[in-house]
Amino acid sequence: MIMDGNGRWAQQRGKPRTMGHIEGAKTVRRIVEHARRSGVGFLTLYAFSSDNWNRPQDEVQALMKLFRRHLASETPRLLENDIRLSVIGRRDRLSPELRRAIEASERETAECDGMRLRLAVDYSSRDSLVRAASLMPQGAVLARDEFSRAIAMVNHCPGGVPDVDLMIRTGGEQRLSDFLLWECAYAELVFSRRMWPDFSSADFDAAIDDFRARDRRFGGLSKAI
Ligand code: FPP
Repeated sequence: MIMDGNGRWAQQRGKPRTMGHIEGAKTVRRIVEHARRSGVGFLTLYAFSSDNWNRPQDEVQALMKLFRRHLASETPRLLENDIRLSVIGRRDRLSPELRRAIEASERETAECDGMRLRLAVDYSSRDSLVRAASLMPQGAVLARDEFSRAIAMVNHCPGGVPDVDLMIRTGGEQRLSDFLLWECAYAELVFSRRMWPDFSSADFDAAIDDFRARDRRFGGLSKAI
């Protein structure tokens, strides 16, 4: 899920953009727990792209603080709900405090297997592709699934991750913004006009219903023919 629209949600209400992020964190909790109850196996949330470093310093700092607090407050709820957390993206530019919070949450939830939650922080899909490629011996001829495993590895998910079935973006924009480009090769795309803080469980269900009604052909022919 690309969680877009926090800033506009706040601005429309005459509030600072960071209020939108705080409200957006409440939506994260709501949607994660709803997805778990709905039987979703893997959920990846785009929390901070590598290009988001270009935002004003105070917004970046507010987001980093929010991530750290959220990890601390939500880890017990993840455990209760049997949700395993992994954070994907670069870690070398994160503060030591945030890195410690990520490692603690990943460690504490490592045995959970009700749902896999991946939080993308300092994430760039093109960057992970380049890093996965650089792990390969020069001139190696690879099967696609081997390369998928290498991408999962650089994203701290060494057990592998399935391709994306459904990509939902809120906030009305219709683009991928460097999110899971390889993994979305055959993803169904749903774009919601709802700003992320307003995105509800009913909106999530509507996206799933839309997904279920699609005819996924993967380049082949429809089963209906
Ligand atoms: C995009 O909206 C959202 C972000 C860059 C941050 C995402 C963060 C959250 C949803 C809240 C906290 C998350 C966690 C995991 C605790 P935008 O700010 O680009 O919105 P705009 O397009 O309206 O400006």
